[in-house]
Amino acid sequence: MKILLATEKPFAPVAVTQIREVIESAGYEIDILENYRNISELLSSVSRADGLIVRSDLVTAEVLGAAKNLRIVIRAGAGYDNIDLEACTKKKVIAMNTPGQNSNAVAELVFAMMLYQVRGGFNGKSGTELRDKSIGIHAFGHVGKLVAEIAKGFSMYVYAYDPFLPEAEIRKYGIKVLRRAEEMYRICHFISLHLPSNTATRKSIGYDLLSKMPAPAIVVNTARKEIIDEEGLLKTFEERPDFCYLADVEPDCKAIFEEKYKGRYLFTAKKMGAQTEEANINAGVAAARQIVDYFETGNESFRINK
Ligand code: 3PG
Repeated sequence: MKILLATEKPFAPVAVTQIREVIESAGYEIDILENYRNISELLSSVSRADGLIVRSDLVTAEVLGAAKNLRIVIRAGAGYDNIDLEACTKKKVIAMNTPGQNSNAVAELVFAMMLYQVRGGFNGKSGTELRDKSIGIHAFGHVGKLVAEIAKGFSMYVYAYDPFLPEAEIRKYGIKVLRRAEEMYRICHFISLHLPSNTATRKSIGYDLLSKMPAPAIVVNTARKEIIDEEGLLKTFEERPDFCYLADVEPDCKAIFEEKYKGRYLFTAKKMGAQTEEANINAGVAAARQIVDYFETGNESFRINK
C-alpha cells in the first residue's frame, strides 16, 4: 500500500517523522511531496498512491483523475472546502477530515492577533486590554469552544452564536448564547469567526453585520476568506475609522488595505492558524491512523463524503 503525504505548506519535521512511523509500522510505504509549486508534481506523485494525506491542498477532479489507485483521501485538518467531495464519491474514493486535532493552535492564534492589535503592534505607545471587553464567537465548533475557554481566562464577556447547536449545549460553557447573529454583532467589540466555507456561508459576513458592531471594533478571521463579503468589509472600513480586521486568511482586496488602512489590519504571511508542531503532529498522526484503520478494519469514522 502506498500513501502519499502531499503538503504544499509542510508539516513540522517532527510531525512528518511520526506520520512516517504510523504508516511504515503498518507495513505500508510513504511518499512525501512537500513544498510543491506546481500541480503537475502532485498529479505525478498521486498516480501511484492508494491513500492520500493533504492539508489545504486542492483535491480536484483532475487530481482524482490522475490517482488511478486511490481509495482514501484524508484532509489533515478541519475544513474540507479544498476537497471535491462529489468527485471523490464518483471515483469511489473515501474522504475524511481530522476534526478538532489542530483547533488549539488556531484558538491561540486568535488571541495572539487580538493582543498584538490592541497593543498597537508593540510600538511603544499605550494600548488597551482584553479584560472586561466583549467577544462574540460566530460558530461554536472545536475552535470556537477553545476560544471561549481562553476568553474566560482573560476575563472577557463571552457570547456565542451558532444556529446549528442547541442553546443548552453552548450554555454548558458558561457563556451567553444569542439567537440571532445581529444581536451578537451589536453587543461585541471583538468578533471571532469560526464558520466553515460552504454555499450557505460564503460572503455571509458583510456590511449588515459588521456595521452594527460598537466602536472600537475588531473582527478576527482565522476561518476562511470566502465567508467575508469584501465589499461590505471595505464599506465598513470607509465609514468607521475605529474598525480593524485581523485575518489569518488574507482578503483578495489586500492591496486596498495596504494602501489605505495602515495600522487597522493584520494579515499573516500564509495561513498560520494550524502551524504549530503540536497541531501538525495531532492532525498528521490522526490522518495516518485513520488511513491505516480504514485499510485494516474498514473503519469509516470521520467520513465526509457520501
Ligand atoms: C483547517 O481547516 O484545519 C485549518 O484551516 C488549517 O489548515 P492548514 O492545514 O492548511 O494549515
